[in-house]
Amino acid sequence: MDFVSSQTFANLQTAYQDELMASSRYRFFAARADEDGKKSVAMSFGRMADRAMIHASVCLKMQHGGVLPTTLENLRAAAKCEFGEWTHKYYICAQTAREEGFLESAALFDRLADISRYHNVCFCNLADALSEERLFRREEDTVWMCLACGYVHTHMAAPEKCPVCGKAQGWFEDLSGGE
Ligand SMILES: [Fe+2]
Repeated sequence: MDFVSSQTFANLQTAYQDELMASSRYRFFAARADEDGKKSVAMSFGRMADRAMIHASVCLKMQHGGVLPTTLENLRAAAKCEFGEWTHKYYICAQTAREEGFLESAALFDRLADISRYHNVCFCNLADALSEERLFRREEDTVWMCLACGYVHTHMAAPEKCPVCGKAQGWFEDLSGGE
């Protein structure tokens, strides 16, 4: 049986999403327990959140032959996810909230849709730059910053290695725009 079209693959996807939600939820619960001064409870939530995240990672890897998808695949998947959020989910949720008279929620959904639209563009741009090998190279002088130590370098390309802290080129970010 083809793995990708199997129920097992679909179940792994459900488990992946459930574990991710549990992990995030436990982080919020840990923060609240911290605010309440219940440190041991906060730490328990934190441990469970870490484990749930590992479970999610294991399920995702199982879907992809034992490894995480490549960064390019992840950027494309993230762009697709954000696209679905702003074109369908959040605008429809906003419309429903307006019809039901919950205007504050409608405004929130509209703003989330706008943010998702921006994120979609960011991920698409990053994916294109990565696939075209121009993530660390521009056609004109560009200001690059080392995310580790803050060293700033103005050139068409980011340095192969940071001259201050030694981090690799992948640590450099184009300061001129986007995320
Ligand atoms: Fe550096």
